[in-house]
Amino acid sequence: MTLPVDLHSPPLQRPELISFLEDVVIQRRATPHFSGEPVPTEVIETALSVAAQAPSGYNFQPWRFLVLSDPEQRRRLQAAAFGQPKIGEAPVVIVAFAQREGWKEKIDEIFELRAEQTGQRDPAAREKTKKGALDFISQLPAGVWVTRQVMISFTYLMLAFESQGWDTAPMEGFDAAAVRAAFELPADAEVVALLAVGRAAEVDPPHPGRLPVSEIAYRDRFDTPFTTLNSSEL
Ligand SMILES: Cc1cc2nc3c(=O)[nH]c(=O)nc-3n(C[C@H](O)[C@H](O)[C@H](O)COP(=O)(O)O)c2cc1C
Repeated sequence: MTLPVDLHSPPLQRPELISFLEDVVIQRRATPHFSGEPVPTEVIETALSVAAQAPSGYNFQPWRFLVLSDPEQRRRLQAAAFGQPKIGEAPVVIVAFAQREGWKEKIDEIFELRAEQTGQRDPAAREKTKKGALDFISQLPAGVWVTRQVMISFTYLMLAFESQGWDTAPMEGFDAAAVRAAFELPADAEVVALLAVGRAAEVDPPHPGRLPVSEIAYRDRFDTPFTTLNSSEL
Protein backbone atom coordinates (compact mmCIF):
# COMPACT_ATOMS: atom_id res chain seq x y z
CA MET A 1 0.00 0.00 0.00
CA THR A 2 1.29 3.48 -0.78
CA LEU A 3 0.31 6.65 1.02
CA PRO A 4 -2.61 8.43 -0.72
CA VAL A 5 -1.36 11.71 -2.16
CA ASP A 6 -4.32 12.21 -4.48
CA LEU A 7 -6.35 14.65 -2.41
CA HIS A 8 -9.54 13.41 -4.04
CA SER A 9 -9.02 9.72 -3.42
CA PRO A 10 -11.43 8.14 -0.93
CA PRO A 11 -10.10 8.12 2.65
CA LEU A 12 -8.66 4.87 3.94
CA GLN A 13 -10.86 3.00 6.35
CA ARG A 14 -9.69 3.42 9.94
CA PRO A 15 -8.41 -0.12 10.71
CA GLU A 16 -6.56 -0.19 7.39
CA LEU A 17 -5.00 3.20 8.09
CA ILE A 18 -3.95 2.34 11.65
CA SER A 19 -2.35 -0.92 10.63
CA PHE A 20 -0.55 0.84 7.78
CA LEU A 21 0.76 3.56 10.11
CA GLU A 22 1.84 1.01 12.72
CA ASP A 23 3.73 -1.00 10.12
CA VAL A 24 5.61 2.02 8.84
CA VAL A 25 6.28 3.48 12.27
CA ILE A 26 7.34 0.24 13.98
CA GLN A 27 9.44 -1.06 11.10
CA ARG A 28 11.27 2.23 10.40
CA ARG A 29 14.87 2.32 11.66
CA ALA A 30 17.53 5.00 11.40
CA THR A 31 19.55 3.29 8.67
CA PRO A 32 23.30 3.35 9.39
CA HIS A 33 24.62 2.54 5.88
CA PHE A 34 23.20 2.87 2.39
CA SER A 35 23.83 1.18 -0.96
CA GLY A 36 24.13 3.46 -3.97
CA GLU A 37 20.81 2.36 -5.52
CA PRO A 38 19.23 5.54 -6.88
CA VAL A 39 15.86 6.76 -5.58
CA PRO A 40 13.42 7.43 -8.46
CA THR A 41 12.42 11.07 -8.90
CA GLU A 42 8.71 10.14 -8.58
CA VAL A 43 9.39 8.67 -5.12
CA ILE A 44 11.04 11.94 -4.05
CA GLU A 45 8.21 14.01 -5.53
CA THR A 46 5.60 11.91 -3.74
CA ALA A 47 7.44 12.27 -0.42
CA LEU A 48 7.76 16.04 -0.89
CA SER A 49 4.08 16.35 -1.73
CA VAL A 50 3.22 14.47 1.48
CA ALA A 51 5.58 16.73 3.48
CA ALA A 52 3.82 19.75 1.98
CA GLN A 53 0.57 18.53 3.57
CA ALA A 54 1.87 18.90 7.13
CA PRO A 55 -0.02 21.24 9.44
CA SER A 56 1.64 24.41 10.73
CA GLY A 57 0.81 27.32 13.00
CA TYR A 58 -1.63 29.58 11.10
CA ASN A 59 -0.92 27.35 8.07
CA PHE A 60 2.23 29.43 7.41
CA GLN A 61 4.28 26.45 6.09
CA PRO A 62 7.80 27.85 6.63
CA TRP A 63 9.58 24.57 5.77
CA ARG A 64 11.90 24.36 2.77
CA PHE A 65 13.83 21.33 1.46
CA LEU A 66 17.11 21.26 -0.44
CA VAL A 67 17.33 17.89 -2.19
CA LEU A 68 20.92 16.81 -2.85
CA SER A 69 21.67 13.94 -5.21
CA ASP A 70 24.78 15.24 -6.97
CA PRO A 71 27.77 13.42 -5.36
CA GLU A 72 29.84 16.60 -5.20
CA GLN A 73 27.04 18.43 -3.38
CA ARG A 74 26.69 15.53 -0.94
CA ARG A 75 30.44 15.65 -0.32
CA ARG A 76 30.09 19.33 0.57
CA LEU A 77 27.28 18.48 2.98
CA GLN A 78 29.28 15.63 4.48
CA ALA A 79 32.14 18.03 5.21
CA ALA A 80 29.66 20.27 7.07
CA ALA A 81 28.21 17.30 8.96
CA PHE A 82 31.25 15.90 10.77
CA GLY A 83 31.95 13.51 7.88
CA GLN A 84 28.94 11.28 8.62
CA PRO A 85 29.46 8.35 6.19
CA LYS A 86 25.77 7.93 5.34
CA ILE A 87 25.75 11.35 3.66
CA GLY A 88 28.33 10.14 1.18
CA GLU A 89 26.65 6.75 0.73
CA ALA A 90 22.98 7.65 0.38
CA PRO A 91 21.98 8.65 -3.16
CA VAL A 92 19.75 11.42 -1.79
CA VAL A 93 20.17 13.64 1.25
CA ILE A 94 17.63 16.33 2.04
CA VAL A 95 18.43 19.48 4.02
CA ALA A 96 15.33 20.68 5.89
CA PHE A 97 15.50 24.36 6.73
CA ALA A 98 13.43 27.50 7.14
CA GLN A 99 14.12 31.19 6.97
CA ARG A 100 13.52 32.78 10.36
CA GLU A 101 12.06 35.89 8.67
CA GLY A 102 12.05 35.13 4.93
CA TRP A 103 9.04 32.80 5.16
CA LYS A 104 6.87 35.88 5.69
CA GLU A 105 7.18 36.68 1.96
CA LYS A 106 4.61 33.93 1.33
CA ILE A 107 1.98 35.16 3.80
CA ASP A 108 -0.13 36.98 1.20
CA GLU A 109 0.00 33.99 -1.16
CA ILE A 110 -1.11 31.73 1.70
CA PHE A 111 -4.01 34.00 2.66
CA GLU A 112 -5.00 34.29 -1.03
CA LEU A 113 -5.04 30.50 -1.37
CA ARG A 114 -7.24 30.20 1.69
CA ALA A 115 -9.63 32.80 0.23
CA GLU A 116 -9.81 30.83 -3.04
CA GLN A 117 -10.43 27.57 -1.19
CA THR A 118 -13.03 28.93 1.22
CA GLY A 119 -14.59 31.70 -0.87
CA GLN A 120 -14.19 34.04 2.10
CA ARG A 121 -12.76 37.41 1.10
CA ASP A 122 -12.68 40.18 3.63
CA PRO A 123 -9.52 42.30 3.33
CA ALA A 124 -10.03 43.97 6.72
CA ALA A 125 -10.49 40.62 8.48
CA ARG A 126 -7.45 39.25 6.65
CA GLU A 127 -5.23 42.11 7.82
CA LYS A 128 -6.49 41.68 11.39
CA THR A 129 -5.78 37.94 11.33
CA LYS A 130 -2.36 38.54 9.82
CA LYS A 131 -1.42 41.09 12.47
CA GLY A 132 -2.70 38.85 15.28
CA ALA A 133 -0.73 35.90 13.93
CA LEU A 134 2.52 37.82 13.53
CA ASP A 135 2.16 39.36 16.99
CA PHE A 136 1.63 35.93 18.53
CA ILE A 137 4.51 34.32 16.67
CA SER A 138 6.89 37.17 17.54
CA GLN A 139 6.63 36.21 21.23
CA LEU A 140 8.86 33.19 20.54
CA PRO A 141 12.46 33.21 19.30
CA ALA A 142 12.08 32.86 15.50
CA GLY A 143 14.41 29.86 15.38
CA VAL A 144 12.26 28.01 17.91
CA TRP A 145 9.06 28.76 16.01
CA VAL A 146 10.35 27.62 12.61
CA THR A 147 12.02 24.52 14.05
CA ARG A 148 8.71 23.49 15.63
CA GLN A 149 7.02 23.71 12.23
CA VAL A 150 9.78 22.17 10.11
CA MET A 151 10.03 19.04 12.26
CA ILE A 152 6.40 18.14 11.60
CA SER A 153 6.87 18.35 7.85
CA PHE A 154 10.24 16.56 8.15
CA THR A 155 8.51 13.68 9.94
CA TYR A 156 5.87 13.46 7.21
CA LEU A 157 8.70 13.40 4.66
CA MET A 158 10.57 10.60 6.43
CA LEU A 159 7.46 8.44 6.83
CA ALA A 160 6.44 9.07 3.21
CA PHE A 161 9.77 7.64 1.99
CA GLU A 162 9.49 4.69 4.36
CA SER A 163 5.91 4.03 3.28
CA GLN A 164 7.12 3.78 -0.31
CA GLY A 165 9.60 1.08 0.72
CA TRP A 166 12.75 3.24 1.02
CA ASP A 167 15.09 3.57 3.98
CA THR A 168 15.91 6.81 5.78
CA ALA A 169 18.25 8.26 8.40
CA PRO A 170 17.40 11.52 10.19
CA MET A 171 20.38 13.60 11.32
CA GLU A 172 21.06 16.53 13.61
CA GLY A 173 24.84 16.08 13.55
CA PHE A 174 25.90 19.03 11.38
CA ASP A 175 27.33 22.52 11.70
CA ALA A 176 24.43 24.76 10.70
CA ALA A 177 26.63 27.73 9.77
CA ALA A 178 28.80 25.49 7.57
CA VAL A 179 25.72 24.04 5.82
CA ARG A 180 24.35 27.55 5.26
CA ALA A 181 27.65 28.67 3.76
CA ALA A 182 28.20 25.53 1.63
CA PHE A 183 24.85 25.92 -0.13
CA GLU A 184 24.59 29.72 -0.05
CA LEU A 185 21.35 29.56 1.92
CA PRO A 186 19.93 32.93 3.02
CA ALA A 187 21.57 34.48 6.08
CA ASP A 188 18.44 33.91 8.20
CA ALA A 189 18.21 30.21 7.27
CA GLU A 190 17.73 27.91 10.26
CA VAL A 191 19.07 24.51 9.20
CA VAL A 192 16.85 22.10 11.14
CA ALA A 193 17.63 18.50 10.14
CA LEU A 194 19.05 16.28 7.41
CA LEU A 195 17.43 13.18 5.95
CA ALA A 196 19.44 10.53 4.12
CA VAL A 197 17.30 8.41 1.79
CA GLY A 198 18.10 5.24 -0.13
CA ARG A 199 18.35 1.50 0.26
CA ALA A 200 19.91 0.03 3.43
CA ALA A 201 23.27 -1.60 2.65
CA GLU A 202 22.69 -4.22 5.36
CA VAL A 203 19.81 -5.44 7.49
CA ASP A 204 18.60 -2.56 9.67
CA PRO A 205 19.71 -2.66 13.32
CA PRO A 206 17.21 -4.08 15.83
CA HIS A 207 14.58 -1.79 17.33
CA PRO A 208 16.44 0.01 20.16
CA GLY A 209 13.33 0.11 22.36
CA ARG A 210 11.18 2.98 23.58
CA LEU A 211 9.98 4.17 26.98
CA PRO A 212 6.61 2.61 27.81
CA VAL A 213 3.50 4.75 27.33
CA SER A 214 3.00 4.54 31.10
CA GLU A 215 6.15 6.70 31.49
CA ILE A 216 5.42 9.32 28.85
CA ALA A 217 1.69 10.08 29.14
CA TYR A 218 -0.37 11.38 32.05
CA ARG A 219 -4.07 11.40 32.81
CA ASP A 220 -5.24 14.87 33.85
CA ARG A 221 -2.40 15.31 36.36
CA PHE A 222 1.38 14.99 36.06
CA ASP A 223 1.46 12.49 38.93
CA THR A 224 -1.03 10.09 37.27
CA PRO A 225 0.16 7.84 34.43
CA PHE A 226 -2.35 7.73 31.59
CA THR A 227 -2.07 3.97 31.57
CA THR A 228 -0.17 1.26 33.41
CA LEU A 229 0.14 -0.78 30.21
CA ASN A 230 3.29 -1.03 28.09
CA SER A 231 3.13 0.02 24.43
CA SER A 232 3.19 -3.63 23.36
CA GLU A 233 0.10 -4.39 25.49
CA LEU A 234 -2.04 -1.54 24.14
C1 LIG B 1 16.18 14.61 14.97
C2 LIG B 1 17.10 13.42 14.90
C3 LIG B 1 18.45 13.61 14.74
C4 LIG B 1 19.33 12.53 14.62
N1 LIG B 1 20.65 12.75 14.34
C5 LIG B 1 21.46 11.70 14.07
C6 LIG B 1 22.78 11.91 13.60
O1 LIG B 1 23.23 13.05 13.40
N2 LIG B 1 23.56 10.83 13.34
C7 LIG B 1 23.10 9.57 13.51
O2 LIG B 1 23.86 8.61 13.24
N3 LIG B 1 21.83 9.32 13.93
C8 LIG B 1 21.00 10.36 14.20
N4 LIG B 1 19.69 10.14 14.57
C9 LIG B 1 19.19 8.76 14.67
C10 LIG B 1 18.86 8.37 16.11
O3 LIG B 1 20.03 8.03 16.80
C11 LIG B 1 17.84 7.22 16.09
O4 LIG B 1 16.69 7.68 15.44
C12 LIG B 1 17.52 6.73 17.48
O5 LIG B 1 18.63 6.12 18.06
C13 LIG B 1 16.37 5.74 17.49
O6 LIG B 1 16.62 4.69 16.59
P1 LIG B 1 15.54 4.32 15.48
O7 LIG B 1 15.34 5.58 14.67
O8 LIG B 1 16.14 3.23 14.65
O9 LIG B 1 14.30 3.91 16.18
C14 LIG B 1 18.83 11.21 14.71
C15 LIG B 1 17.45 11.02 14.92
C16 LIG B 1 16.60 12.10 14.99
C17 LIG B 1 15.12 11.87 15.14
